[in-house]
Amino acid sequence: MKRAVYPGSFDPVTFGHLDVIRRAAEMFDDLTVSVLNNKVKTPLFSVEERVKILREATKDIPNVHIDSFSGLLIDYAREKNIHVAVRGLRAITDFEYELQIAQTNRKLSHGNLDTVFLTTSLEYAYLSSSSVKEIASFHGDISECVPEFVANMIYEKYRENA
Ligand code: PNS
Repeated sequence: MKRAVYPGSFDPVTFGHLDVIRRAAEMFDDLTVSVLNNKVKTPLFSVEERVKILREATKDIPNVHIDSFSGLLIDYAREKNIHVAVRGLRAITDFEYELQIAQTNRKLSHGNLDTVFLTTSLEYAYLSSSSVKEIASFHGDISECVPEFVANMIYEKYRENA
């Protein structure tokens, strides 16, 4: 059984992430999308909220499971007996950062965790969770960036935080 993990912050999930999730789910028998519980960053959504959003957004893909993790990805992958990480590449600017993480994970795991890159579909190449949040914070239109229920949740967060 071919299994993979797609780790990320997903704060919140965008159509770009969902495009990678759908395509990776066709390549692997089982895909775990795992939200990093990063104590350093101050996210808009809690880990629990991000997990819930991802579950709702991927509920029609049977071989996708949503989870969360803290600490090193290689430790998490080892516990789950997963040997492939999936990451999306939007542009050449992503490459340097992603290459460094992939090489580090391969080295630290002694070859037990490899990374597969999917190039994000061109229509989503400009998208990032950060830009979506910034647009929403100024009441801009994010309907082409995230599912409608996610957009409503983002606007709601900014109303609460105002
Ligand atoms: O969505 P993001 O924030 O770009 O995802 C980054 C992520 C979660 C893939 C990366 O930060 C990660 O795997 N962090 C876990 C800590 C870790 O394993 N670090 C070692 C690689 S440098």
